[in-house]
Amino acid sequence: MLLEYCISLADVQKAQLVIKDLIHQTPVLTDSSLNILANRKLFFKCELFQKTGSFKVRGALNAVLTLCEKAKMEASNIRALVTHSSGNHGQALAFAAHLKGIPTCIVVPRTAPACKKAAIRQYHARLVECEPTDQQCRAETTAKLAAEMEALTIHSSDTPEVIAGQGTIGMELLQQVPELDAVVVPVGGGGMLAGIAIAIKALRPNVKIYGAEPQNADDCYQSKQRGQLTPNPSPPDTIADGAKLSIGPKTWPIIQDLVDDVFTVTEDEIKQATCLVWERMKLVIEPTAGLGMAVVLSERFQSLPENLKNVAVILCGGNVDLGSLSWLKNLSESSKQ
Ligand SMILES: Cc1ncc(COP(=O)(O)O)c(C=O)c1O
Repeated sequence: MLLEYCISLADVQKAQLVIKDLIHQTPVLTDSSLNILANRKLFFKCELFQKTGSFKVRGALNAVLTLCEKAKMEASNIRALVTHSSGNHGQALAFAAHLKGIPTCIVVPRTAPACKKAAIRQYHARLVECEPTDQQCRAETTAKLAAEMEALTIHSSDTPEVIAGQGTIGMELLQQVPELDAVVVPVGGGGMLAGIAIAIKALRPNVKIYGAEPQNADDCYQSKQRGQLTPNPSPPDTIADGAKLSIGPKTWPIIQDLVDDVFTVTEDEIKQATCLVWERMKLVIEPTAGLGMAVVLSERFQSLPENLKNVAVILCGGNVDLGSLSWLKNLSESSKQ
């Protein structure tokens, strides 16, 4: 087992201090009807209520504030920041950079939800759209902009400060749910999964850490199965847009060693679970946040031992494009008549 990772518990603890006054300590909610369906006691960590509408602001704030501190010590300047993002990291970075008055440019796939693109602009960042092809295209556009603007690039998940920031979810959960047996974490680039794993396994090694992925973007599952980093072979097609990115060279070693298992779910399961949370809990989560609920209802998860009673599910974001819901479209059509 490799014990040298890009961050340690101390980095997550430091991140907690750095960001604590700028984020919400999000609530943990329960729902008895969902407990019955899952046959376990579920604890929903509501990051959809987080500033900017997703957990991503934890990592973005930690990265920006840590970089600013470093620049101050070195008496240097950060000219600008760039990143590529499916939308939520872009919003979070734009928000964090604006707090510090740093110009920011966000590269998003042309197909990103309209609400995420609009929010990035509202947080005063420049938005550059790229084709929703492979990760290389996004990375190349970002590198070109970084060179033009003399900007630093903050990757959405494979940056140590970002991973440490996301790990603060784990610290809060241990306090909010002391009886915790397991946590189910949606996975894209794996920053949230790796950060939570670092925090929780250091403090409570018996708590199980599980990843939740769409079957259509199952690089984390494949990597665990094969014992080697296995990115998605082509751009994934999934409603869980936050899960399209593949895990990377910094998140993989942590996930390889500290994550107990990864569960995959179908597109129908993601949609059904998302609707279930809307209807039963009255929480407007985005489909990527429905991944955890879909996993706890899946057959493979249901076959886990019953003594795994208290399970936290991370409702990681609420930036859902309401305009893309077909029944809302019909409603606006009929209201015009
Ligand atoms: C709402 C939401 N959940 C989960 C993820 C995946 O996070 P990570 O890339 O840290 O695995 C994302 C990434 O964009 C997201 O926006």
